[in-house]
Amino acid sequence: MIIVYSLGGSILAGQDPESLRGYGKVLLEIAKEHQVYVVVGGGRIAREYIEKARALGASEAFCDSIGIEATRLNALLLVAALEGKAPLEIPCSYQKALLAARLHRLVVMGGLYPGQTTDAVSAMLAEYASADRLIIATSVDGVYTSDPETDPSAKRIERMTPAELVLITNRTELKAGSRSPVDPLAAKIIERSVIPTAIVLGKEIANLKKAISSSHTGTEIGI
Ligand code: UTP
Repeated sequence: MIIVYSLGGSILAGQDPESLRGYGKVLLEIAKEHQVYVVVGGGRIAREYIEKARALGASEAFCDSIGIEATRLNALLLVAALEGKAPLEIPCSYQKALLAARLHRLVVMGGLYPGQTTDAVSAMLAEYASADRLIIATSVDGVYTSDPETDPSAKRIERMTPAELVLITNRTELKAGSRSPVDPLAAKIIERSVIPTAIVLGKEIANLKKAISSSHTGTEIGI
């Protein structure tokens, strides 16, 4: 199988080296059986830097480019945990990621262009690579009916169609560093190519493997 992971930056940032190695080991195990791409998010570093740049009067596009650099920095940290088995250079285009995959079973990348998040990069990469599965490992354990951090009555949705995902994500604002289960652009890409997608809690390393099959504890997107 060809699997694309979107690994939220909040999952990697703040982890001690042993836990980072844990993620590396699981990904290397998965890559023994599958072609794996991992797109790493910006996490806390992105948020901090974006907030400071915004306070200094930087444009949203400029804040986005700061966020992109943070994702690439986190991607390099994950590469450090992969025992030299992933390319040391982070691809700066989809084409370069695909080329890198000819030599490596595991390719790590970060963000690419302003106006989106790494979820969108991972969905687009899934299209380019004709991936069998897109796994969004993030800070929440799936898509909720509303924001679980502010609404105690929010319920997790076990299964939904790509069209339903688009409806939910369209309510989210598109601002640098904004909070959402999935980027609305990613949802549109998942919808147009009907990419089988799982949204799972990335803090539990075991979820990276569990999400390969559709029986996991997050939200499964499909028709
Ligand atoms: P993330 O993909 O980490 O976004 O990129 P996020 O959803 O805010 O973070 P998580 O998923 O909770 O960790 C961080 C920021 O970098 C910029 C955006 O501003 C984004 O919010 N970015 C990232 C881009 O502009 N383009 C990209 O391709 C990737």
